[in-house]
Amino acid sequence: MDQNELKKLVGEKSAEWVEDGMIVGLGTGSTVKFMVDAVGRRVQEEGLKITGVTTSIRTAEQATALGIPLKSVDEVDHIDLTIDGADEISDDFHGIKGGGAALLFEKIVATNSDRNLWIVDETKLVEKLGAFPLPVEVIPYGSQKVFEKFEKAGLNPTFRKLDDGEFLLTDSKNYIIDLHLKRIEDPHALADYLINQVGVVEHGLFLDTVNTVIVGRQDGPEVLE
Ligand code: 5RP
Repeated sequence: MDQNELKKLVGEKSAEWVEDGMIVGLGTGSTVKFMVDAVGRRVQEEGLKITGVTTSIRTAEQATALGIPLKSVDEVDHIDLTIDGADEISDDFHGIKGGGAALLFEKIVATNSDRNLWIVDETKLVEKLGAFPLPVEVIPYGSQKVFEKFEKAGLNPTFRKLDDGEFLLTDSKNYIIDLHLKRIEDPHALADYLINQVGVVEHGLFLDTVNTVIVGRQDGPEVLE
């Protein structure tokens, strides 16, 4: 199986975790897309009744087209389960997210969820985080100053840009600075530093967040808890 097939495997497997009556956080990304398709099929074919809380415009559009009823995070009193992808997951169950630039809403939904389930192909499992560039969402005003501060701190920043050279804008109309760190020795210390920089809205370190991971392996999905 190639990487895309492994994503499909775990995306479809994770839809089995969704139960009737649940309020379900729906993440963002190419793996999640398979999960949302599978949940949509259950809604249409089995009459599954759920409320979705989406983490991006992309996922909201997909879920709406599939007939999944949606509410915003502010309209629900809890979220039973959020299913999302990840860019890296370390041995100690911390993660980097935001490769799809949806980290802000993803973190808001994740931190308001009773349980978080991540779905990844096996290439996403690492010993330590950091090979995947760490996304940091920043307000456009003053973002050059934040960038320079990151440069001085040796964090190897790059602004995320589109093919035409324009700044990528998140759903909240912010910029993303990716930090090329190779290896993050102390993710908690880095998270504290980043969130305390004026102009930083959120960062892609998801620490102490995930409860269950479904890993797509060649011989089938593996559940880690
Ligand atoms: C989006 C995310 C995604 O969950 C992450 O980038 C994984 O994406 P994919 O399933 O496409 O590999 O954090 O902001």
